[in-house]
Amino acid sequence: MSVRPVIVIAGIGNGGGTGAATARVFSKQGYRVALIARNADQLNKFTAELKQAGTEAAAFHVPDYSYGSVTGVVESIRRYQWPSAEKAEIRVALWNASFGAWKSFLDVTEKDVHDSAEANFIVPFAFSRQIILAFQENEMNELGKRGTLLFTGATASWRGNVTTSVFAAGKFAERALSQSLNKEFGRQNIHVAHAIIDGGILTDRSAARHSDPEAHKRYVENADIRLDAESIAKSYLYLANQDRSAWTWELDLRPAHEKW
Ligand SMILES: *[C@@H]1O[C@H](CO)[C@@H](O)[C@H](O)[C@H]1NC(C)=O
Ligand SMILES: *[C@@H]1O[C@H](CO)[C@@H](O)[C@H](O)[C@H]1NC(C)=O
Repeated sequence: MSVRPVIVIAGIGNGGGTGAATARVFSKQGYRVALIARNADQLNKFTAELKQAGTEAAAFHVPDYSYGSVTGVVESIRRYQWPSAEKAEIRVALWNASFGAWKSFLDVTEKDVHDSAEANFIVPFAFSRQIILAFQENEMNELGKRGTLLFTGATASWRGNVTTSVFAAGKFAERALSQSLNKEFGRQNIHVAHAIIDGGILTDRSAARHSDPEAHKRYVENADIRLDAESIAKSYLYLANQDRSAWTWELDLRPAHEKW
């Protein structure tokens, strides 16, 4: 029986950003796509779009990003019966869900701290645990690996700033998790990689981030000063395709004219 690989992606937002672009890029390479998200409408809409394009895609809704719900949902993905007869193996997983609040330290609430801890590292612990258990059941593929676990990080994963105490504290912890997993599971031929996304990503929500419409126009027109979600996704594919003799733990992606 032939085997068709599955990519599991947590965090697809409104279907216009990094998680969604990763789903499209991997589906073009023949992957099945299992999507985890909180917003059921956006999730179902995006899953339908992938199916329309001929991808075997399945939606896995979670009411919230909690340790228990994410553990349960990855278990469901592992048991899921895909429509086509080929055997399914989870070979790639991406944690792209995140929580950020940008405010002065004295304005930070207890809830902000909890939400950041939950989305940026407590739940990634649950996600990683289930994914690694799934990878351990895989034989090594032709690249000498059992699976690739990817994390979307940010500049704040290694550098704090004036309004980033909540976000950076969570992202530092996520990076620490990723690095520890890379060390522990590399020797089982499981590849864990962390990507620092250092800049603004062009999405349909970008306009809301720019107060000045002229500045927004420059950003849309000029690929030198922003990141494209599809370009990030292609880098994730590159990581998944690395063989065991030379694999990356950390990638740092930024537009050509990044200025910080
Ligand atoms: C996925 O990662 C990107 C890059 O950090 C981020 O902008 C986006 O909000 C993330 N998606 C979700 C659903 O959290
Ligand atoms: C830190 O924050 C300041 C003020 O918002 C900003 O001008 C600067 O670019 C930030 N630096 C980094 C590394 O993000």
